Amino acid sequence: MKIAVPATSANLGSGFDSLGLAVNLYNNIYIEESDTIDIASLDSTPVPTGGDNLIFTAAQSLFALCGSRLKGLKIRQENNIPMTRGLGSSSACIIAGLVGANELLGCPLNTDALVNLAAEIEGHPDNTTPALLGGLVTAVMEERRVYYIKQEITGHLKLFAFIPDFELSTEFARGVLPETVSRRDAVHNLSRAALMSASLLEGKYENLRVAVNDRLHQPYRLGYISGASEVFDMAYGFGAYAAFISGSGSALMAITNAEDITFEEKARKALDTMGKTSWRLLPLRIDNNGAQVIQGA
Ligand code: HSE
Repeated sequence: MKIAVPATSANLGSGFDSLGLAVNLYNNIYIEESDTIDIASLDSTPVPTGGDNLIFTAAQSLFALCGSRLKGLKIRQENNIPMTRGLGSSSACIIAGLVGANELLGCPLNTDALVNLAAEIEGHPDNTTPALLGGLVTAVMEERRVYYIKQEITGHLKLFAFIPDFELSTEFARGVLPETVSRRDAVHNLSRAALMSASLLEGKYENLRVAVNDRLHQPYRLGYISGASEVFDMAYGFGAYAAFISGSGSALMAITNAEDITFEEKARKALDTMGKTSWRLLPLRIDNNGAQVIQGA
């Protein structure tokens, strides 16, 4: 079977650890039953080929939850989501492993159980849940259970991922955050996170520039993404509704009106002028479908 899993952009600025959006960039994972661990990459991206492969360990977790032991799997990975850039590549692996294993066992886990297990493996629900379900997801994890809402975003929006040539691990990017925040900053974010999801759903995009503003993580992470503030200024200068760090970085994301056909060319030229010729600029759309299983592929 083939499982296509979308990339995801978590946080959307103010919605730290709680908002996430799926986009139309997919890892394609081919899974077949096997008595041995037989894992390979279908492209030039190196992947772990042993029992530590994240797709395999996720599949093992689901088997264990169902009281079975998974000895092996044949896995072939087509990796289109750049790794360690805040675009949900590890969540895509977890979802592929869980969805594949669930299919192999005849679907014993329902969607809620898959959402819970995926978030437990990843540690936070804001990438795994939209990777599974698509759309805009609001998610809270409490006592190993995820309380979530998935909503389709049908508005006429385009996203642009600005992808640097350097990685930023989530572990490191979480390590630079303070343990406590002021009430002022807490109120700043919770009001904006609420405004972000409501405005995306209502199509009131002029709210997004205020709604995206964050005080809980971006100020501490920006210093590790050289030139990020200039890229944000550039994106706003070219008319973006919002610009933010995608997940924990290093990629940045801008949301624009889909009718704007000039943004990409102008942004590419500006990146080159800034000396960021090695940065990729990827135009994206929102994916409202989430992970898809194609049997027989
Ligand atoms: N919400 C997580 C973080 C997402 O910002 O650390 C990681 O991709």
